[in-house]
Amino acid sequence: MRICLKGGRVFDPERSLDGQADLLIKKDRIEAIAPQIKTDDALIIDLAGKVVLPGFIDLHVHLREPGFEDKETIASGTAAAVAGGITAVAAMPNTKPPPDNPAAIRFIEEKAAAAGFCRVYPIGTLSHQRKGGKAADLALLYEAGVRAFSDDGAPVANSRLFKEILQELARYPDAVAIAHSEELPLSAGGLLHEGAVSRRLGLPAVPAAAETIGVARDILLAAATGARLHLAHLSTAGSVELLAWARERGLPVTAEVTPHHLLLTDEEILRSGALAKVNPPLRTEDDCRVLQEALRTGLIDIIATDHAPHRLSEKEAGLEEAPCGIAGLETAVPLLLTGLVNRGKLSLADLVRVYSSRPAELLGLPGGSLQPGAKADIAVLDLEAAGKIDPQGFYSRAKHSPFAGRSYLGGPVMTIVEGKIKMEQGIVYGANR
Ligand code: DOR
Repeated sequence: MRICLKGGRVFDPERSLDGQADLLIKKDRIEAIAPQIKTDDALIIDLAGKVVLPGFIDLHVHLREPGFEDKETIASGTAAAVAGGITAVAAMPNTKPPPDNPAAIRFIEEKAAAAGFCRVYPIGTLSHQRKGGKAADLALLYEAGVRAFSDDGAPVANSRLFKEILQELARYPDAVAIAHSEELPLSAGGLLHEGAVSRRLGLPAVPAAAETIGVARDILLAAATGARLHLAHLSTAGSVELLAWARERGLPVTAEVTPHHLLLTDEEILRSGALAKVNPPLRTEDDCRVLQEALRTGLIDIIATDHAPHRLSEKEAGLEEAPCGIAGLETAVPLLLTGLVNRGKLSLADLVRVYSSRPAELLGLPGGSLQPGAKADIAVLDLEAAGKIDPQGFYSRAKHSPFAGRSYLGGPVMTIVEGKIKMEQGIVYGANR
């Protein structure tokens, strides 16, 4: 059966496509894009008034399985992804056990294939068992197909070990180290950003320098070794300056920012309490402005959610006890359209660049454009869809968000992965909420 997406605004900045057209899918691939496609054997889907674009690709997602299935599973997390218009995710390795060997990588791939929602690229650990004591068997992981490595959730604190790991990764030009840059002695015990709000509340806090010192160290070690470095979840204006410094020197350093660091400030703790507790913490208006601008100009390469689901009961244990993390897969696109695109801070073309084409390019993945002959990984948006964020409707097991109750204008209404419709009008086929 072929599928004809009819009459939508087909939008792919990579190929300078922006206009009303039909898009024909045959099996798992895009067969054709043309102003009018006539077929007598295709399922016709009328998309007049909707936008058809490359599926979103999220390179920073915590799926929690194995080990923390009470927070999320590979099935529930990938269902949440397609609910959000996302067709591929890279899965962070802070699971129990962490994927530091090929069998653990295969486990994730098999679970993802069995769930059948979106593509999943497992990220391997940098250090053995993600303990920061010695390097993981990077060559074995690379042989198993892993191209991104991280100990995310924590840095490789020992600079000598991190340098050795980067030295080894530098042998593989298509491998990248994803750094969770944090100077732990400075952040230890901190519950929120060190600034006006933490002072008002009298709470232990995380200074901006806890991140910038980490970012500076990681950039310098990348420079010393020639390894590709990707900086995860940047939250401060100072980190952006350091990134610019690295780029000016032609270092192979890329970076990401999350929707919450773009759109929320430390004030959010006053409204949402522990639901807004995240690592790195939400910062200031100024930081948000600098991050938004760096994203627009391409200095920051991509958006990634750092989807970090936790149980509501854990979040309700109080600011001190609660774990860090925000579930972001199902809110990213509506929030980015509402908070950035509709306000002229990012164009729709920028959004496709930072949340689809550039992520695909960074890890050499399929997707990121609507190319006849390529796999049909597609998101359909309704830019007029209006509503309020309602975590009760999430497919993620983490049914809470500091964005709950926020109005949005624009969101995904269909997700197609490898030519199969996975989500339509908010309903994910084969998944339970
Ligand atoms: O807020 C966060 N949550 N930041 C991290 O780096 C890790 C993540 C998690 O795994 O919960």
